[in-house]
Amino acid sequence: MTPAFPVSRPRRLRTTQPLRRLVAPVTVRPGGLVQPLFVKEGITEPQPVGSMPGVVQHTRDSVRKAAAEAVAAGVGGVILFGIPAAKDARGSAADAPDGIVQLALTDLASDVGSDTVLMADLCLDEYTSHGHCGLLTDTGEVDNDATLDRYAAIAVAQAIAGARVVAPSGMMDGQVAAIRSALDGAGFTDVAICAYSAKYASAFYGPFRDAAECAPQFGDRASYQQDPAAFAGDALREVLLDVAEGADIVMVKPALAYLDVISQFAAAVELPVAAYQVSGEYAMVEAAAANGWLDRDRTIMETLTAISRAGADIILTYWATEVAQRLS
Ligand code: PBG
Repeated sequence: MTPAFPVSRPRRLRTTQPLRRLVAPVTVRPGGLVQPLFVKEGITEPQPVGSMPGVVQHTRDSVRKAAAEAVAAGVGGVILFGIPAAKDARGSAADAPDGIVQLALTDLASDVGSDTVLMADLCLDEYTSHGHCGLLTDTGEVDNDATLDRYAAIAVAQAIAGARVVAPSGMMDGQVAAIRSALDGAGFTDVAICAYSAKYASAFYGPFRDAAECAPQFGDRASYQQDPAAFAGDALREVLLDVAEGADIVMVKPALAYLDVISQFAAAVELPVAAYQVSGEYAMVEAAAANGWLDRDRTIMETLTAISRAGADIILTYWATEVAQRLS
């Protein structure tokens, strides 16, 4: 409601840090942070990701340690990404019972499954030899409907392994409905879907493609991801479709360049809104801080506060564990 006259908070409430903390309307909650973790098949030592200083591809063992640390810090969830040893055209390792993500989920379910929310990214690009998020037709186009059957199978494999939330990130039409019906049909009515409802064709995913070894071998993802130049109303239509198809959480990705979309979602949808602070957002801050050009910790907190202020209830961020530690 608009007040009858402009009211701004008295400046004396800003004079000390304790006062600012006392009256702060926006806070970053550790329990609303989700730590992304990469787990790679066939390695014996964690491998640093060059474009994401501080982030590694984990071994099956080291990911258990990282998850335990995240949980001890108080994060609300962890989301797993798998990197298979072998890729093929249909991404067979994505739903193999002994695929790396399924193995890691099984470990984590027994280690920390009752203390945090185990999430799994649900996509094919890490698993396909061509690096696209779906199956291809003979002419090299992404085949939307054939891909939905693969997503359905992956969802069930991840649920069997212990995922409580699956997060389809491939932007195929109808993916939420296909996954919901597959999960329900297999008896996993309690497994929730976090839909990447507005996922933009973004340059900010660059470093992730090193981390997950999933750069497309030809072309790009612009035919299935959203155009950054589209009106936010387009994203709103996508999110309403996902809600109608059965999404439980809706996500915007990237975060900082799309705060307007986050706030539109928060206003339009009753469901929890998640935002993914992606690899390029992480890399920008780390690189500038390494050069002494930005105050790293303040910048991190400012970006997370801005994303919360825009209306995100949940934030996926590579700094989740660190920030949760700092806030506790
Ligand atoms: C696709 C996927 C991507 C990210 C998460 N899931 C990459 C893409 O669409 O190219 C990006 C996350 C990041 O940049 O941190 N499986």
